[in-house]
Amino acid sequence: DMEQPHVIVLFGATGDLAKRKLLPGLLRLFEAGLLKDSCIVGTSLEEIDTDTFVKIARDACEEFGKGDVTDARWAPFAEMLSYVSQGAGPHALAEAVHVSEAVLARHGEEIGRLHYLSVPPKAALDVIRQLDEAGLVERSRIIMEKPFGTDLDSAKRLNARVHEVFDESQVFRIDHFLGKEAAQNILAFRFANGLFEPIWNRNFIDHVQIDVPETLGLEGRTAFYEGTGAYRDMVVTHLMQVLAFMAMEPPTSLAPDPISDEKLKVFRSMRPIEPHNVVRGQYNGYRGKAAVAEDSDTETFVALKVEIDNWRWAGVPFFLRTGKKLAEGARIISIAFKEPPLTMFPAGSNVGRQGPDHLTFDLADQSRMSLSFYGKKPGPGMKLEKLSMQFATHETSSSASVLEAYERLIHDAMRGDHTLFTTAAGIETLWEKSIPLLNDPPPVRGYAPGSWGPNAIHQLIAPHAWRLPF
Ligand code: BG6
Repeated sequence: DMEQPHVIVLFGATGDLAKRKLLPGLLRLFEAGLLKDSCIVGTSLEEIDTDTFVKIARDACEEFGKGDVTDARWAPFAEMLSYVSQGAGPHALAEAVHVSEAVLARHGEEIGRLHYLSVPPKAALDVIRQLDEAGLVERSRIIMEKPFGTDLDSAKRLNARVHEVFDESQVFRIDHFLGKEAAQNILAFRFANGLFEPIWNRNFIDHVQIDVPETLGLEGRTAFYEGTGAYRDMVVTHLMQVLAFMAMEPPTSLAPDPISDEKLKVFRSMRPIEPHNVVRGQYNGYRGKAAVAEDSDTETFVALKVEIDNWRWAGVPFFLRTGKKLAEGARIISIAFKEPPLTMFPAGSNVGRQGPDHLTFDLADQSRMSLSFYGKKPGPGMKLEKLSMQFATHETSSSASVLEAYERLIHDAMRGDHTLFTTAAGIETLWEKSIPLLNDPPPVRGYAPGSWGPNAIHQLIAPHAWRLPF
C-alpha cells in the first residue's frame, strides 16, 4: 500500500494553508521518496492555468519550505503538477484526474486518489458534492481540514453529508497537532515507561496547562478568522485533541479504534464548557482591520478551565490558553505535580521551593520534553535550585528523518492509517460540550498586542499561576 501511486487532488490549492504547509510538505515528501509515482491536481476558485499554478507553488515552496528551490530541484516535482479551476465544473475535474491517472497507469498498479479539502467548513459540502458528481469517490480517500462545522448542528450536518458519499473508512479528519512529534511522544512517554504510569492521575498531578500563545497576527486570513475565532480555530480542535492524548486511559492497543474510543471517553467525561470558566479576548486594533465588523465580537484570544469528571482526573483542572499577537510564541503542555506533604524548605529568598515541579512537552517543531524539579544548590548551607532534565528530539535524530506534522499525516492518509486522525463522534461530542459557551459567550475583553492576554486570565487560574513566560 505504501508504494501505491496516487493522484492527489488539492482543493484550495492557492490558499494560505496550501502555500504555507501543503505544497512545501508535498515537495519534502517527494524528495524523501515517500511520494513516488504520484500526480498532484491543484484546484481552487481562481481562474488560472497550470503554468501560473506551478509558479505559485514554486514561490510558496521558496517562501515557506526548506532550502532554495533551484531549477534542478524544482523540475521533477513541477512535472507532477497540474491545475483545473473549480469553476470549470465536475467534469473538467474528473478529466484532469483521469489524465493524471493515464500518466501513472504505466506502473500497472492500482492508483489511489487522495482528495485534500483545504477549504473552509462551508465550502467542504460543495466539494463533496462535486466529487460525487465527478465520479471521484471510488478508490478515494479524503482529508478534511478543521474546523469541522462551527457548532453541533453544522458538524452533524457535515458528517451526515460526508457519509452519504464516503464511507467513514475513507475519511481522514486532520488535526495537525497530532502529527507533531511531541504529541506522539505523550503516548510514548506514558505507555512505554514504568516511571510515569503510577503518577499519571489525581493523586500526583495538581493541574495541567496546555498553552499555545502565538505572536502571529492574522496575516491574510482575517475573512476566515472573523467567522471562526480562537475557540473554534484552536480549542475544539488542536488543544482538545492534545488534551485527550494527555488524559485518556491506556488504549487496548495503539491502533486507531482503541485510541479513538479512549479519546471519546475523555470528551464524554468533560464537564460542559461554562461561560464563567472562559476568558475571551480581542487584541486592541483588531476591529480596525478590513473584513472585520466595527463591533466584531470575534475572540482572538481564549483561556479556559476544563474539568474532567472521571476517576483519574476528578479535581485536576486543565487550563488551556491560546491567542494571536501575544508576547511570545510557544506550544507547551505542562504538568504540575503536587507539592510535597510537608515543607522543609521554607518559601522566600532563594532557599525554598517556589512553585511545583513539572513535566513539560514542547510541541514546537524542534520538539523538546523536560522534567524540572528541585535539587540542592551547590555550596554552603541548604538552598534549593530548579534543575531541568531535557530531551530534545532534534538533537538525537537527524533532521532529515523528522517529518513535519502535515507531511507525516498526508503520508499516513495515503497509507490508510487513521491512528492520528480524529473521528466524527469525537468532534460532535466536543461541540456538544461547547454548547453553554457558544450559546452565551462572555463578552470579549481587550488586550494589548504583545501582552499575555486580558488580565482576567490570572483570576481564572488562581490559586495556580500561568507557567509562561518561563
Ligand atoms: C492552525 C490555525 O490550525 O494552526 C492557526 O488555523 C494557527 O490559526 C496554527 O496559527 C498553528 O499551527 P502551528 O503548527 O504553527 O502551531
